[in-house]
Amino acid sequence: MRKQIAAANWKMNLTITEAETLLDAVLGGTAEVSENQKVVFAVPAPYLALAAQKVAGKNNTFVAAQNIYPKKSGAFTGEISATIIKSIGVEHAVVGHSERREYFNESNQFLAEKVKMCLQENIVPIFCCGEALPVRETNQQNSFVQTQLQESLFDLSADEIQQVVIAYEPIWAIGTGKTASSDQAQEMHAHIRSQLAAKYGAEVANNVSILYGGSVKASNAKEIFGKPDVDGGLVGGASLIAEEFVAIIKALKS
Ligand code: 13P
Repeated sequence: MRKQIAAANWKMNLTITEAETLLDAVLGGTAEVSENQKVVFAVPAPYLALAAQKVAGKNNTFVAAQNIYPKKSGAFTGEISATIIKSIGVEHAVVGHSERREYFNESNQFLAEKVKMCLQENIVPIFCCGEALPVRETNQQNSFVQTQLQESLFDLSADEIQQVVIAYEPIWAIGTGKTASSDQAQEMHAHIRSQLAAKYGAEVANNVSILYGGSVKASNAKEIFGKPDVDGGLVGGASLIAEEFVAIIKALKS
């Protein structure tokens, strides 16, 4: 059975003191996270070890790297590997966020390597996909996202794909305050699940968590997460405010 997931993406924000205060506030404000739910904090790389220690005693609560490089080790100055994050107790990594695709030219093929490397090291990849505004305006979002999935994920086996979390993040809704309507989110999530079902069968497709990301807030989370194919959210701005993110966690389906 797929999990309902609230994932915070702090991006490049917060000092260590602010990070610690926020993490303590969210963990303190969150009651038991149930077995069918997960809470994940994607924190800046220097805070991974601290965050991993802080969540260690909390059920179903995890830390994620915001990125990894798809080699085990070697002369790749400035990068971090899945092996390195694993060694400090981190079990998730965001892969292919639209900001990395845009500012660091990450291609679908390169992201396929990152996903593979995560799985090889037993790291759960949170694979991001989603279209920019011109694609949506010309109603090509379904085929655009389909290509992202095909080129980055569809070489995986049925066992492997079930380890992946997919995050649909329409670029026009990220940091803009402009959320996709819950119907728009559901429509794309159903499309993603139908693509998974066509490739791997309905049972496998039903086991894959598909998160929505893009201006999720306490005030809209319940409605978006309430849709049948939306299994929680990947949250940027609102995850930096403790009360907001605590409320977003509470909005997960139980
Ligand atoms: P916002 O929630 O700030 O729109 O960011 C979404 C996002 O990019 C999460 O990865």
